[in-house]
Amino acid sequence: MKPDLQAQPSARKPLFRRVAVIGLGLIGGSLALAAKRSGLVGEILAADRSDEELALGVELCVIDGYGTVSEIVAGADLVVIAVPVRATVAVLQALQPHLAPTAILTDVGSTKGSFVKAVREVFGDLGPRVIPGHPIAGSEKSGVRAARGDLFEDHKVILTPPDNVDEAALEQLARLWTACGATVLTMEVNRHDEVLAATSHLPHLIAFSLVDTLAGEDQNMEIFRYAAGGFRDFTRIAASDPVMWHDIFLSNREAVLRVIDHFTEDLAGLRQAIEAQDGAALLRVFTRARAARNHFSKMLSGQAYVTDMSQKPVRFRLQPGGSINGDIRVPGDKSISHRSIMLGALAEGVTEVDGFLEGEDSLATLQAFRDMGVTIEGPDDGHVRIHGVGMGGLQAPRGPLYLGNSGTAMRLFSGLLAAQPFDSELTGDDSLSRRPMNRVADPLRAMGAVIDTAEGGRPPLKIRGGRKLSGIHYDMPVASAQVKSCLLLAGLYAEGMTSVHEPAPTRDHTERMLEGFGYHVHRDAATASVIGGGKLTAGHIDVPADISSAAFFLVAASIAEGSDLTLRHVGMNPTRTGVINILKMMGADIEVSNEREIGGEPVADLRVRSAQLSGIDIPEEQVPLAIDEFPVLFIAAACAEGRTVLRGAEELRVKESDRIQVMADGLRAVGVETTVTPDGIIIDGGQAIAGGEIDSHGDHRIAMSFAVASLCATGEIVVNDCANVATSFPGFVELATRTGIRIQSEEGE
Ligand code: S3P
Repeated sequence: MKPDLQAQPSARKPLFRRVAVIGLGLIGGSLALAAKRSGLVGEILAADRSDEELALGVELCVIDGYGTVSEIVAGADLVVIAVPVRATVAVLQALQPHLAPTAILTDVGSTKGSFVKAVREVFGDLGPRVIPGHPIAGSEKSGVRAARGDLFEDHKVILTPPDNVDEAALEQLARLWTACGATVLTMEVNRHDEVLAATSHLPHLIAFSLVDTLAGEDQNMEIFRYAAGGFRDFTRIAASDPVMWHDIFLSNREAVLRVIDHFTEDLAGLRQAIEAQDGAALLRVFTRARAARNHFSKMLSGQAYVTDMSQKPVRFRLQPGGSINGDIRVPGDKSISHRSIMLGALAEGVTEVDGFLEGEDSLATLQAFRDMGVTIEGPDDGHVRIHGVGMGGLQAPRGPLYLGNSGTAMRLFSGLLAAQPFDSELTGDDSLSRRPMNRVADPLRAMGAVIDTAEGGRPPLKIRGGRKLSGIHYDMPVASAQVKSCLLLAGLYAEGMTSVHEPAPTRDHTERMLEGFGYHVHRDAATASVIGGGKLTAGHIDVPADISSAAFFLVAASIAEGSDLTLRHVGMNPTRTGVINILKMMGADIEVSNEREIGGEPVADLRVRSAQLSGIDIPEEQVPLAIDEFPVLFIAAACAEGRTVLRGAEELRVKESDRIQVMADGLRAVGVETTVTPDGIIIDGGQAIAGGEIDSHGDHRIAMSFAVASLCATGEIVVNDCANVATSFPGFVELATRTGIRIQSEEGE
């Protein structure tokens, strides 16, 4: 058949005028179909060794026409190589003379090092418009007949651009893949090959090997006939194309060998545990694996903790008005949840935790301890069981500990890890990677720790193990519970006494919980001290509901007319109740009842009813006691009568976002003018809150604050970038809806 090089021009201006697909198999064909469906490409032409496949491609309307490599590449602005790895060099040689200098060259192979090597061999170097790619999608079927336009939907595509990549070209290619329904990630070539060796190549090898082994057994027919579901699921991938997999293993040889050795060693460990009837060792591996399985995507991508890579951004859409009613319990306290895992892991014995916050921040801490060899069961409806390993029982993690969005985790971990015998590295998401860490690194260095930070004292933190720490006295320049807790944790391992003086009271959960685990903390006015070398004894922890999460509802019920809400089991530690003190000073109607102490922390039920709030000068000593609640207090101030002035709160500028500026910007977007000062804000209440669109900057507390603002707004409020609400308040939207906030959560760009 004669090549039909005259295809129909697309109605819209296409992203690519001509796409040349070399190799019309399952992936090449599916890309052609998906790209066509996206409406972003002009014509799609293919070349293939098999004329039959090409003819079929036209017949099935997968492609617009076909030709030889030289024919279809000339005039193409995107060239996609979709041939088996072993044919790459020959294809590159054939296309090189015809490739336009402005064309983007990409591929879809499963190994990227080999593609880069082939390009270097043929082209001499990797130009800025050569962008290797790997769609992580496939099927056991092959050939153009199996092509599907939806093959990439909800799948990942990894691009491995060179350092000198043409950014516009990268964006163009990423746009095409996104329009095909895929989530695009970028990665360095070697990292890609290592990750894939572990997550794709090794499992295929094991599947091929297991089926082959069992097929060779005497009873093989019986085995296959009665194969349990697990066997079927596990070995499904052994039906994949043998030739393709043979290519993959040979082209990713080094990385595959490394991961096989690693796996063989671990398998031998399990064999030994079974032989020795070591149930604890089996439980350790299985619980760690189960948790890791649940969080796979995140672990590979280094993105927000349980946030799947394919998770779309979240947007809140809020209709104005409403009143707040009901009887609720908000999720567990974040600060206490972090600490329960940390101390439980270092204790001797099994610690049971109830009311644990299953938010991304505290889950990041939990996973990090699993990564250091601690067996942790759960969380199961807030229940966690930690098999403590003792002060010296942590094991070196295999890679960096990823702490998501959590500043608390990173700062407390730095103290703990500075004293371990192994090296470690702490990383986090974009927001955490911008936060200052010298506030912990400097005093830890004074204790003898060796810690490297990135520029400006930012994460990642690289902590050298095997250092002997000595106790110091530290006068904290800022009132920070994170810094205090970090040093006390390091102090547990240091020679002599470590004492920390705080310029104003900050949350004291670490001190209380240490006492609860039998470790004496000497507390003298504004100084807390520990003597190193002691031990922790496992216990039971009942985590109260988080007052920082309750704060959204305290303000909501105060500002919305006709409200009457009860909040149960709220943590009332006096170092945390600033929000109640401030709201009461503003005239809020909050009734505290059923006060009790549970596991060393005061707890109470709160009833809050609507009230006319008045602006106040917020006393500076309340600032550390309400440090996380200011975003929502700014909403209260906007709804109050008169002026509210906040001073001495520069710390707000280095939280998950610059909470002074981001709140001022958000308030302005809904028509409320404020005056921002270096260490605070002035808000004149009583200005009408209009509808508008808010950027939360990925800060959970900003997002939830504007959800509360909708109660007093006159128009619809849209809050963008809300996925991080899951860091501290899973189930916020449901609970807000239940109490009367007119909120809808949508996935969006
Ligand atoms: C926390 C302390 C506070 C607070 C953070 C949690 C803790 O930070 O903002 O959300 O758990 O120790 P600083 O102590 O640094 O102000």
